[in-house]
Amino acid sequence: MRSVFSFLKPYRRHLVIGPAFKLAEAVLELAMPLLIAYMIDTGIESQDRTLIWRLGLLALLMAATGLGCATVCQYTASLASQGVGTDLRHALFSKINHLSLRQLDHFGTSSLVNRLTGDVNLLQQAVAMLIRLVVRAPFLSIGGLIMAMTIDLRLSLILLLILPVFILIVYLIMSRTIPMYRKIQQVVDRLMRHILEHLTGVRVIRAFARRSAENKRFDLENDQVAALQIRVSRISNLLNPVTALILNAATIALLWVGAIRIEDGALTRGQIIALINYVGQILTALLVVANLVILYTRAYASAGRVAEILDLPNEGDSLKSEERVVEDDNQRAGEELPPVDPDYWLRFDRVQFQYPDTAAPIFDRLDFTVGRGRSLGIIGPTGSGKSTLAWLLLRLWPLTSGQIWFDGQPLAASDLTSSDLNIAIVPQKSVLFSGTIAENLRLGRADATDDELWQALRVAQAETFVRRLDDGLHSQVQRGGVNFSGGQRQRLAVARALVSRPRLLIMDDSTSALDYATEAALRRALAGSGSFARMRLIIISQRVASIRQTDEIVILDDGRLAGQGTHDDLLKENRLYQEIWQSQQSNGEVVG
Ligand SMILES: Nc1ncnc2c1ncn2[C@@H]1O[C@H](COP(=O)(O)OP(=O)(O)OP(=O)(O)O)[C@@H](O)[C@H]1O
Ligand SMILES: [Mg+2]
Repeated sequence: MRSVFSFLKPYRRHLVIGPAFKLAEAVLELAMPLLIAYMIDTGIESQDRTLIWRLGLLALLMAATGLGCATVCQYTASLASQGVGTDLRHALFSKINHLSLRQLDHFGTSSLVNRLTGDVNLLQQAVAMLIRLVVRAPFLSIGGLIMAMTIDLRLSLILLLILPVFILIVYLIMSRTIPMYRKIQQVVDRLMRHILEHLTGVRVIRAFARRSAENKRFDLENDQVAALQIRVSRISNLLNPVTALILNAATIALLWVGAIRIEDGALTRGQIIALINYVGQILTALLVVANLVILYTRAYASAGRVAEILDLPNEGDSLKSEERVVEDDNQRAGEELPPVDPDYWLRFDRVQFQYPDTAAPIFDRLDFTVGRGRSLGIIGPTGSGKSTLAWLLLRLWPLTSGQIWFDGQPLAASDLTSSDLNIAIVPQKSVLFSGTIAENLRLGRADATDDELWQALRVAQAETFVRRLDDGLHSQVQRGGVNFSGGQRQRLAVARALVSRPRLLIMDDSTSALDYATEAALRRALAGSGSFARMRLIIISQRVASIRQTDEIVILDDGRLAGQGTHDDLLKENRLYQEIWQSQQSNGEVVG
């Protein structure tokens, strides 16, 4: 929570100046009934026109000064609240960029979006109210009470009698509504999550003709939000009429008892009007206090939700991806690989890994060494841990124990940045961003020239279709790349990885959507092209055809090493490999 409050620090001045001016306005407001009482009792009673004019002018002056003070306060409140909001959003966003996948999965997209928007907005509002009302409202209610007492102590007793009644009613209403506000927040969270999921999966939902079912589910949740909102409004809307009722009751009581006191000569007419004014001021101020309590219970919850993110440790920092861009290019082009252990270029040394919140480890002491050639194929049934292995190489998840060595370097070394490693991946599910093709490719390396982009596209077998587009490199990619076919997306993702001129390129099932001829052409281009000649290559696939030409093949089965060797060796000796090969042959697949 401290982390959130510290965002107020730069606005300390505003936090003093704003309330100070608001307080000045409140003093003027408290003085006004006294002035009017004096006007009635002295000016009107004695028919002294000049006095009435003078007092009237004074009242006008006080009102104008009050307006000026209020404006200054409002101005500082806006500056400070918008400032705090902007700073918070900035901090949250950059914090989210430093979180690990585990942390991101734990919170989920919609919850993070909600915190970044709804919660920060509420905190922003809380800061504005802190400056505008938190000092003023209690001051007005207590000040009003004291002023009333100075006018007539006995009549003020009426006030002292109705105040506890009023406070009790406010308490009863709030004790019911505050838990409901919390509930609403949760339901809205859930609704947001479903909307987000729905929009992401809109194609699948339509393909499965799930539209009406989804509509029903949404309606159900939407109705639940509405019902809760209505219930809470019904209760909280009692506040205003109840206040009016009490106010009027108090006025009647004041007039009644006051009339008697005026008869007795203990009270003047002006004073009774001042008293009635104070009752109004006190009750409205108390109403504001009640609303502030509601606002601050909600803001407190929001501050907690924001602080929860800000206080997380930066687990994702082992992947300093942004440093990729600023590295010296020639160094990374593959010409000067660091001293390589002659015996192997990749080694899994008793690697143990388990996803958080799962029962069993994926890898339990996975042990293998790759020395031959520069390309490695990884094959295995679905769910055997192939993609997980790729993420481990990218250090997206920390190992439970053991070590991975790449080109003679242990990956867990803390001083190793991602740009030192320079491993690029074409993920199983290719993700493109909205923008142009060139912008997408330059995620690989920001300063790549157009020629380099074309070269990467050529190797990735994407040149032809990009050239055919009207705007070439500057053609628009829609969000998620929906305006490209699956195979085109995969090839653009390959090109993007190549643009970064990686030392190691991991292709996780990235040719699954390509026909065999295109896949073979891509493989040949990767092997033959001069600028990528020294790049290491890991190809992950379920198809033997995709990996049979790699220098070495590793077979994974349920997280265990089920065999290692060349295609020919494995075909002779390895049962699982033979089975996979057989099944793909009998399916009539052409072997490329
Ligand atoms: N983020 C995650 N959290 C928990 N478990 C996961 C996570 N990702 C994968 N798993 C589990 O790890 C196991 C291996 O998954 P992985 O994605 O590595 O398989 P794969 O070999 O790539 O499969 P496929 O060929 O279908 O892509 C699976 O049983 C899966 O349920
Ligand atoms: Mg996979």
